[in-house]
Parts: sequence; C-alpha cells; structure tokens
Amino acid sequence: MPNDAPTPLQKAAKFEARDLTRTYGHGKRLTTAVDRVSFTIRDREIVSLVGQSGCGKTVLAKMLLRLETPSSGVLDFDGRPIGEVKDAREHWRKVQAVFQDPFAAFNQFFTIRAQLKSSFRLFKEKPSEAEMNDRVDQALLAVNIKPKEIEGKYPFELSGGQMQRMLLARIFILKPQVLIADEPTSMVDACSRAGILDYLMKLKEELQMTIVFVTHDIGLAYYVSDSIFIMHKGEIVEQGPPDQVIQSPTSEVTKQLLEDIPQVNREWIRRGEPGPAPLKQTA
Ligand SMILES: Nc1ncnc2c1ncn2[C@@H]1O[C@H](COP(=O)(O)OP(=O)(O)O)[C@@H](O)[C@H]1O
Ligand SMILES: [Mg+2]
Repeated sequence: MPNDAPTPLQKAAKFEARDLTRTYGHGKRLTTAVDRVSFTIRDREIVSLVGQSGCGKTVLAKMLLRLETPSSGVLDFDGRPIGEVKDAREHWRKVQAVFQDPFAAFNQFFTIRAQLKSSFRLFKEKPSEAEMNDRVDQALLAVNIKPKEIEGKYPFELSGGQMQRMLLARIFILKPQVLIADEPTSMVDACSRAGILDYLMKLKEELQMTIVFVTHDIGLAYYVSDSIFIMHKGEIVEQGPPDQVIQSPTSEVTKQLLEDIPQVNREWIRRGEPGPAPLKQTA
C-alpha cells in the first residue's frame, strides 16, 4: 500500500481566510457584503455556504474565484495570497464555477459545441481539433448527454436542466481542482435537482475535486457536505461538520434555517439517513 495516501488529517488547505472582508461604497452608502470571515477549506472537501438571500454568499464565492478583490483581510490559495500571481487565468485553470443561471453563462449566438470547445482557450497548450472534439464528446457522455443530442444546437434550444449539464460538461473538460457551485439547483425542477447533485458527487470522486457549494437550502447542504458554513449579514456565524451544525446548532440563525426547511427533509435528517437522493457522504 502506498504510504503517501493522504488521510483526512493530512489534507492540505486549499483556501485559508483570515478576517476576510469585502465592502462596497463609502460613508452612508457603505455595504459590508462579507464581514471579517475566517475559515479553512481543505483539499477534496465539499463545503457548503448556507444563508438567506443577501447574506454575502455570492460575494464570498467571487473572492474565491478571484472575480472580486478583498477589501481587507487575508485570502490564501494553496498557501499563497490569491492575488500574488499576476495572470488571473492561472487561478481560473484551477478554480472554476457553475453559476445559478446556465443561460447567462453561454452565448446565445454560438452552438453549444463551439462554446464547449472554447473552454480550451484557458489551457496553456490548445489540443488538436480532433482531440478537442473527442474531449467534448467524453465530457458530454459524463453528464449523460449523447453528443448527437446537441449537434448543431444553440443554448435556447435546450432546457434549463440540459443547460445545467452543459455547465458541468465544461467542468469535465477543464478538470479544475476546485469547483464553486453557486446555487446550481435553483433553476431546475426537483428531478434534475437530484441529478445535478449526483454529478457534483461524481465530480468529487472522479476528478478528486474540492467543491464549494453555495445554497440557501440547509437540508441539501447536510447531505453533500464535509463542512457547513452558516452565513448571516456577511458573517460566518457557525461552522463545522454537518452532524454538529444540524444536530446541535449553536446560533439562532442556524436554528431558524432549520425551522424553515420542508417537513419531509427534516424527517430524513432526524432519521440520520439520506432521503430519496442518496447523497450523504460518509466521513
Ligand atoms: N457589486 C456590488 N455593489 C454593491 N453591493 C453589492 C454588490 N454585490 C453584492 N452587493 C451587496 O452585498 C450583499 C451580499 O450580496 P450577495 O453575496 O450577492 O448575497 P447572496 O449571494 O448571499 O444572496 C448584498 O447586500 C448585496 O446587495
Ligand atoms: Mg447569491
């Protein structure tokens, strides 16, 4: 047996934040979107950011993506300040996102295939035409789409669920180390919602990814996460493993979020077993 196999205790930190803050505006118009948050996100962990609309989840996610600059505090990626490397593409090769609205992520005027192929622009060395097409096909199959289903098609010809899978296919092409999934399930119906989560697990297992899963649904977070961060008004008010956060919440915010989840999800949590979607990871 190889003796360098990482155990959970040895997992390196991917992101390390200390008093990380992001504000907008000045004086009376000052908004503190993210307020002195501190956390560690370890390699190959699934971390859920949970909180109500407007609490700062997307702004925090964008800082991890290097799409927003911190106003103050520390944010390290792989042990180095996130802005240290001049070329941001260096970061985007390693950290990629799936956002809420898949239609906004694709240009309506180009075919799906052309846009999946354009992902290769981020690579240092662009593969040959044949290899690109082959890798696009592989990525489509990974998300259960037959390549001919999308042949010659444009984004508006696909359903919301299919488009979400196109975003995931992009991730299979780019194979980033970290995936930031910002409310990826809110656009799709309950059926595809379970499907999307299955893909997230597949990404974690097959591509050995670290995943930051942004959601307002604490029940969902419970099933997928190794760690849950509860956010409220820009702060992280509670963080820990899902069992700890859900079974013995310490903050009023967490208790309120638990009150708000549908009865059916609460039943699953109480029984300590996954519901219809078998998603809970054993630690
Ligand atoms: N570009 C911006 N300019 C000014 N305020 C912003 C900007 N982006 C986000 N905010 C504010 O930051 C707060 C957190 O927003 P956001 O992270 O999008 O919340 P969430 O994703 O949790 O719903 C909100 O009050 C929002 O209005
Ligand atoms: Mg948001």
